[in-house]
Order: sequence, then C-alpha cells, then structure tokens
Amino acid sequence: MFGSRAGFVMAAVGSAVGLGNMWRFPYRTAEGGGAAFVLLYLAMTFLIGVPMMVAEFGVGRRTRLSSVGALRAVGGGVWVPLGYLFVLTSLLIVAYLSVITGWTIRYALDGLVAGYSATPGARYDEVSTGSTAVLFHVLVMGVTTGIVWLGVKKGIERASLILMPILFLILISLAVWAATLDGAGSGYAFYLTPSLSALMDPVVIQGAASQAFFSLSVGMGIMLTYGSYLSGKENLVREAVIVSLADFSVAFIAGLVVFPVIFALGLSDEVTESTMGALFISLPSAFGEMGAIGRVVGVSFFVALALASITSTVSLLEVVGAVGIDEFKFTRRTAALLAGALATVIGVLAAMSGDVLGVLDKVAGEFFVVVGVLGMSLFFGWRMTEPGGEVAAGASPGIARSVPALVFLIRYIIPPVLAVLAWVAFRDMVNTVAG
Ligand code: PFF
Repeated sequence: MFGSRAGFVMAAVGSAVGLGNMWRFPYRTAEGGGAAFVLLYLAMTFLIGVPMMVAEFGVGRRTRLSSVGALRAVGGGVWVPLGYLFVLTSLLIVAYLSVITGWTIRYALDGLVAGYSATPGARYDEVSTGSTAVLFHVLVMGVTTGIVWLGVKKGIERASLILMPILFLILISLAVWAATLDGAGSGYAFYLTPSLSALMDPVVIQGAASQAFFSLSVGMGIMLTYGSYLSGKENLVREAVIVSLADFSVAFIAGLVVFPVIFALGLSDEVTESTMGALFISLPSAFGEMGAIGRVVGVSFFVALALASITSTVSLLEVVGAVGIDEFKFTRRTAALLAGALATVIGVLAAMSGDVLGVLDKVAGEFFVVVGVLGMSLFFGWRMTEPGGEVAAGASPGIARSVPALVFLIRYIIPPVLAVLAWVAFRDMVNTVAG
C-alpha cells in the first residue's frame, strides 16, 4: 500500500513522465505534421487516456492483483492472452527505450568531456546507431536487470522523484530561452497552428492516440498494478486527472523547447532526415549555443533524463519478470536474467539499425498499446461486475454523479473508436514493415 496520497500520485507521475514526453512526443509531432497532432494528442489524453487510467486503477484496486492475475481472477482463462499482450508490449518497449536511454547517457558524457558538437545531425548519427549505441544499450540493460534482480527499486525511484522537478525546471528555463531566439516564430507556427486537413487524417489521429497511451503508461497493465496498491479511500478520477495533466504539461513544454530551437537554429533538414532524433539534435545545439553554461545545463538535463528513463526500463522489465515469477515459478533472479537477456538481444538489433528501432516502435508503441487499451476497455466495461461502484468508491459526490457517464463512455464509445484505430494502426504497421 502507498503510505500517502501524495506518494501514490508521485509514483504514478513518475511512471508516466519520461522519454515518452521528451523524446517520443516531439518526434511523433514532427512526423504528424505539427499542431494538428498536438491538438489530437490533447484530446486523446483527456477523452480516452483519463477514463482508461481510471479503469486500470479500478481493476487493480478491485482485485489487488497485477495484470495477468487480475485478468484471470475476474474474467477467467480467456482473458489471460491480454495479459500476455501486456508482457510482450513491455518487453519490446523496454528493449528500445534502453537504446534511447543509452543515447541520453552518451549525450551527458559529450557535455562533460568535449562540449556539444557544432554538427548535431552528424553527431546524432554516430550516437544513435552502431557500436557506441550497442555499448550504452548493454550498459543500461545491465543496470536495469541488476535492479530487477536485486529488487531494489526504492533508491532509484527516490532519486528520480528528486530529479524530476529539476528536469522540469530546466525544461521551463529552456522554453523561456528558446522564446528569445530569432526565428523562433516559425517553430511556434509549426507547433501551434493546426491545419484542418491533418485533423481528419486517420493515421495522424491514431498516432496521437498511441502517443497519449504510451505517455500515460496505459494499455500495458502498469497503472493496473499501481491501482492494486490503493485503498478504498482514493478518488480515482481526481488522481487520474492530476497524473494526466502533469504528463501532458511536460510533453507540451518539451515541444515549446524543441520546435523553436529547430527552426531558429536551422536544423529542419537534419530533423526531417531523422525525425526520431528531434530531441537529440535540437537540445545539444541549444546547449552548444549557450557556451560554458550550456555544458552544465546540458549535463544536468541528460543525467536527470537518463535516471528518469531508468525508472521506466525497470518498471517495464518488472512486468516481464513478474510473469516469469508468478506464472512460471521462476526465482526472481532467474526471471530477471531471462527477461533482461531477451530485452538486451532485441535492443541490440535496434541499436544497430534505426529502421529496426522504428519498426519496434511502430509495432509495440503504436499498434500493441492501442490493442491493449481496447482489451482493457472491454474488460472493465463488460467483464468486471459493477465497474462504476469501484470508481465511485472514494470519489467526491460531484464526481460520483458523473461515474455512469464515464462507464457509458468506456462501454459504448471507446471500444468502437479503438477498434477502428487499431485497424488503422495495423494497416500502417504492415505498410511500414513491408515498405
Ligand atoms: N510513460 C513512459 C513515458 O512516457 O516515458 C513510458 C513508460 C514507462 C511506459 C513505464 C510504460 C511503463 F511501464
């Protein structure tokens, strides 16, 4: 159980905020054409993400079990495959998030050792694929596996909770600094002026939904597990709204740094060539512009980001390891080693080829999370008895009155919408992988 309400909210915010906000959001926004993507992402966060976070908290609190066990206890054996989908999603995501965490550490070292490069595009190519990327990925997976093996998450979680506000402060200062740059205006225009036609593009809509789920950590059984540590007193809706607001704000502010910098410093070509590098091309350039202070700020930023990311890799590897322990009766050590080894091997492929990384992100980060959320909405809406009662427990009278509307949304609106989006994601994935 969580010691306090604040402890729970901080832990859930800790899981939500990470590379999904800083790395993935700017990169997907750049690919999605800018402002329309941002607007759709905002809508998806609050119209689907919040209700589904409430649903996951609710299932967890009702059953007091983690994902596979909760699904089996309430729904029986037919729901177990959904639990395994969560495991597979987590395994694939940890594999490539580890690679990107490795880039983060590499960029921290750049600042320490040599200062930030004047040719950010070329530097990104060196850092992101090849032997350096493999090396740092293996290092991150080693640390991650070690933490899961020893079961010592506490220290690292505490460190990241302290570093999170630092990260946030640096990000805000950078956004203010970026606003003073000549030429920042075209960055804001790209980021904040939506085009109507893009708002209707099914692939962009689906991408925004996936981004919202990835960023909120829903659709992977993670928030369900957090919910299992809650008592009956918490107001699930209020907590989900707070976590989502925090998560959205961090992503939005990251964009307020990345896009003005890209346009003001003339990095559009480099970023168009490798959208995935949007953060890693723009930030070091910004730090480079700031002289000696830039090195200090840059190193602090990347170190804090690396630590925040390691809490993500640890929690994802835990999802995989926990199934080894609960379902296959492995010891914690065996489960950690097996899960860690698998993720290391898959990640090495992603560290050697940006295309493999892109495919993994498409398959797990775009398609599987949507299917996971779809499964969860059906489970919560149709399989759990009295889902509304669980949500209403602990809610204020005002929120309790709106619970039937929330349940209606999860039963009748969200599943068909997600079924369509899953189909869109599937087609897009097949096209990408085939192409
Ligand atoms: N939500 C995290 C992020 O946005 O970086 C990613 C993540 C962490 C997803 C942990 C799932 C998870 F279990």
